[in-house]
Amino acid sequence: MKGRFITIEGPDGSGKTTQINLLKDYLEKEGYHVHLTREPGGTVISEKIRNLILSPENHDMCNMTEALLYAASRAQHVEQKIKPLLEQGEVVICDRFVDSSVVYQGVARNLGIDNIEAINSFATAGLVPDITFLLYIDAEEGIKRKSEQQTLDRLEGEKIEFHQTVCDGYKILAKKHADRIQFIDASKNIEDIHKEVLKLLETVL
Ligand code: TYD
Repeated sequence: MKGRFITIEGPDGSGKTTQINLLKDYLEKEGYHVHLTREPGGTVISEKIRNLILSPENHDMCNMTEALLYAASRAQHVEQKIKPLLEQGEVVICDRFVDSSVVYQGVARNLGIDNIEAINSFATAGLVPDITFLLYIDAEEGIKRKSEQQTLDRLEGEKIEFHQTVCDGYKILAKKHADRIQFIDASKNIEDIHKEVLKLLETVL
């Protein structure tokens, strides 16, 4: 692949959107063609699956169904959008990717890291990001920030213990893929985080 695939991860309320927008502006000023996308979502079909997964009315969805729907949404996204852009040499920044499934479904929903990695390796045909920024924030702080901004979706509305497990899961994953996942303390101020992101990015651009 000629392009660059950058993903941003973090617990709910970690400030991903702010950092993604700053990163996009910076890269465009540097002359790169940048495409922002998100998961679950990014294509018409994937956004429909997103609504199905996140709608609070679907509170009785089984964990396995949830995991497979995230993977299905991702398969469509990779095939229809991400892979073609990377083949054209573009920069793709994706808000969440496989690591979110490994942490939320594999660890927090307890379906197992290996199982989730396996279904996602199938769903993405083995596509792995060039670099992943993990914006880390503690569960209480993240959910506090989120609930001040908007009403919570089905996943965000989970108990605090669920979000604590998500945070633990991210720490495990950052150690497992230390070569790819860059751990960033997201309690710092916006400008300092942005500078750290740019410094780390030098290794892949
Ligand atoms: P996100 O779009 O980041 O939410 P928001 O835009 O409101 O910050 O993600 C939606 C939720 O889906 C979030 O709680 C994390 C969860 N999620 C998973 O559980 N598994 C996944 O594979 C992905 C991509 C997201």
